[in-house]
Amino acid sequence: MAGEKIFRGLIWSLQKIIWFFFIPVYIVRLFYKHKSCPPIKNDLLFLTASTLAYKIRKKELKSETVVKCYIERISEVNPHLNAVVEDRFREALEEARQVENIVNSKLDEQEIEEQYPLLGVPITIKGSLAVEGLNHSTGMLLRNKIALKDADAVKRVKEAGAIVLLVSNTPELCLNWETTNKLIGTTRNPYDLRRTVGGSSGGEASLLSSGASIIGIGSDIAGSLRIPMHYCGVWGHKPSPRLISVEGHYPSCPEEEWPDVFQVGPVSRYASDLAMLFEIMVEPEMKSKLKKPIDLTKLKVYYLTEIRNILVSRVSTDTKEAVSKAVLHLESISKTSVCQEIDPKLLKFASEHSYLRLLMIDNVENLFSGKGEGAHLEFLRLLFWMSKSVFTTVGYGLLRWWSRVIPERCVKRTFKDIAVIKSKLLEFLDDQSVLVLPVFTREASPHGDVYKMLFNYGYCSIFNSLGFPSTCCPITRTSDGMPIGIQVVGAPNCDRLCLTVAKELERAFGGWVPPSADNNFLEMK
Ligand SMILES: *[C@@H]1O[C@H](CO)[C@@H](O)[C@H](O)[C@H]1NC(C)=O
Repeated sequence: MAGEKIFRGLIWSLQKIIWFFFIPVYIVRLFYKHKSCPPIKNDLLFLTASTLAYKIRKKELKSETVVKCYIERISEVNPHLNAVVEDRFREALEEARQVENIVNSKLDEQEIEEQYPLLGVPITIKGSLAVEGLNHSTGMLLRNKIALKDADAVKRVKEAGAIVLLVSNTPELCLNWETTNKLIGTTRNPYDLRRTVGGSSGGEASLLSSGASIIGIGSDIAGSLRIPMHYCGVWGHKPSPRLISVEGHYPSCPEEEWPDVFQVGPVSRYASDLAMLFEIMVEPEMKSKLKKPIDLTKLKVYYLTEIRNILVSRVSTDTKEAVSKAVLHLESISKTSVCQEIDPKLLKFASEHSYLRLLMIDNVENLFSGKGEGAHLEFLRLLFWMSKSVFTTVGYGLLRWWSRVIPERCVKRTFKDIAVIKSKLLEFLDDQSVLVLPVFTREASPHGDVYKMLFNYGYCSIFNSLGFPSTCCPITRTSDGMPIGIQVVGAPNCDRLCLTVAKELERAFGGWVPPSADNNFLEMK
């Protein structure tokens, strides 16, 4: 117990020291002006993926026109956002022309819809997932690989008729909540280029919210399908474990427990597309596991506004407001009159529990073998600017090495605590209820600030440890136009309920807002 207190004190002091080192950064920042990405001019870019698919199979719209339009938009915004790792525009255009063969075949509209629900619709893929023939380095200079075959999830969307346009940027090995690496550099937030897009599905978030992508695939081990979507005002769903195959992701891990905490999932600009894409990505034999969504008049709403822990920052007023707006709305359409805050103590140590849980997974592919062998040498290289890797990758190695000093009883207690949290949550979280809580303590920060708030990510990572599905839903914006999202969490395999609630929240609050749409906040700056 005393050891734990000293440890927490140390971490707290370290966080404060980091603030101090940031002083020069704060000064430099004063000289950067607010700039967002260019506005969207082509109306085609505002259509949902399901509308695009509908119009393409009805021959009202050519897939080639849609794909061309997206290629133009990507080429327009990418110099500002730096979100693309490698594209396949030529092949995509060729595939779009091939779509005509199916549209003009013997198949009628309904048959096309059943067999190819995404026929002719462009999609973007997070760079850590394998897309045959495209860069699969996951931001790592030392890896630098081309994928030989598609990841399972990519195969599913291709089979549904979607056309892959590109692979998007990730942090090195997905080990960061800021999308930056030595291969591509840093990806920027379309609403304010000075700010982070979060990570690790940051390239996807940036493209979706700038109107350069309509649907995509990402992955999540500690918030990666939710934090970037919250920072960029779009939708992301971290599924329940094992519904969607994680095969073909780098990094991967041979351990049995890996798919329990790590998930591949859908991301989108519109909530209705999120549900559709999710259904397409689920492995057919897992469909029977999914619970039916209920009528929202029967919904029971639980919420949590803030985790109080000295290592976690306070939740901003805007974030609290987003949670309460969503909760009040859901309460207003429900007839159950169950709407209550859960005991905040339950998730007090969410970050500590989930981080230790993740650190205990052996054999996750990374720069080092075993328990961080050679991490200290690499750290020395890093200090002298001689490393080809980045701080977070080396930091993970160091943490793995030092994890051997964590007493066995401490690890056991963490696992036990997580099991207790799970059973306590499941006492009230059934297939008719959701838990609403923040994705993060505030809106997107300037680049690099992630290192000052490492423990704030527990709001998301705890649901990886628990194996609960969670959907990131954009609800409001700050006075300077930055999006604020919330999480809608369900009991295991109640993904459809989370996605139904997401659609309702989009209907009520409008969801995604195009960058540069609201010139008021631009003029203020
Ligand atoms: C992957 O992409 C990066 C950035 O564009 C590039 O530098 C690297 O050479 C690519 N790797 C391969 C194997 O093509």
